[in-house]
Amino acid sequence: MIFSYLIPYFRHLVVIGLAVLMFVILSREPEDILANEREEQSERVSSDERLYSELELAQYDGREGSPGIYLVILGYVYDVATGIKHYGPGEAYNMFVGHDASRSFISGEFESYRPELSDVSSLTDGELKSLVKWKSFYDETYQYKGKLVGRYFDDHGRLTDYHKVVLERAAKAEQEDAKPHQQYPSCNVEWKEETGTRVWCTSRSGDGQERGWVGKPRRYVDEQSPYCVCVPEEVASSDSSLALFDNCDANSESCFVIDTKQG
Ligand code: HEM
Repeated sequence: MIFSYLIPYFRHLVVIGLAVLMFVILSREPEDILANEREEQSERVSSDERLYSELELAQYDGREGSPGIYLVILGYVYDVATGIKHYGPGEAYNMFVGHDASRSFISGEFESYRPELSDVSSLTDGELKSLVKWKSFYDETYQYKGKLVGRYFDDHGRLTDYHKVVLERAAKAEQEDAKPHQQYPSCNVEWKEETGTRVWCTSRSGDGQERGWVGKPRRYVDEQSPYCVCVPEEVASSDSSLALFDNCDANSESCFVIDTKQG
C-alpha cells in the first residue's frame, strides 16, 4: 500500500539515491598521492602488468567479439568486466573504455570520445587531486592490467614528464587542503610602495560573500610567510596557533605587515 504513495516520487528518490552513491564514491579519505605513486611504481616493476598501445587498447571496448573491457585512467589500465552494468555497450559510462578519457572523470564529458579527453592540463590542482582519487578507486575495485603507452607512460612504462607534473600538482592541492588557514577567511591585502603591505578584515573579505562578522587580522605562528586570516573576536585571543602582526594592536582591523611576502 505504502508503495503506491511513493510512486509519484520515484524519480526523485532515484536521483537522490544516485547522488548519495556518487558522494560516497568520491568522498573517500585523501591519500598521500606521491607516496602511493612511488610505492606502486616499485611494486609494479615485477608484477604481470603489460604495456598497451592505443591501437591495441581500442579493441578492449566490451563489444561482442572484443577481447575484454578495459578502462584507462591517467594511463593505467584496468579490467572493468565486473562493472559491465556501468561500462558495457550502451551503458552510462561506456565512453570510458578502450581509451584514456581521464579529463571526463572531472569534466563529465561522457557523450563521445575524443583523444583530447586524455589531456588534463586545463584542470585545476584540486581537480587533479580528485582525479587521482578516482584512480585509487579503480585500484581498489578492479583488476589492474598495465599501462597505456602515450601521454602518461613512455614505451618503457615509465612516468612521462607530463604525468609527473600532474602528480605534483595533485600533491600540492592535497598539501594546501591540509593547511590550517583554510579554517578562517583570508584578509584583504594591498601593497603600496610608500607603506608596504596592509592587511585588513571586512565582513566580505576572503570569498567576497557577506558573513555577518568582520574579525581581526591574525597570522599563523607556524607559517614562514605571514599569511593573514580574519578571526572571530571570541577566538582571536584564545587560539594559540594564531599570533598578532608586529606593531599591530589586538583590536585593530587593519595592520601593516613588516615582511612583504603576503600573497
Ligand atoms: C563528473 C560526473 C560523474 C562521473 C565522472 C561519474 C562517473 C561514474 C563512474 C565511472 C561510475 C562507475 C563506478 C564503478 O565502476 O563502480 C559511476 C557510477 C555511478 N554513478 Fe556516476 N559519475 C558522475 C556523475 C554522477 C551523477 C550526477 C550521478 C547521480 C545523480 C551519478 C550516479 C552514479 C551511480 C548511481 C553509480 C553506480 C554506483 C554503483 O553501483 O556502485 N553519477 N559514476
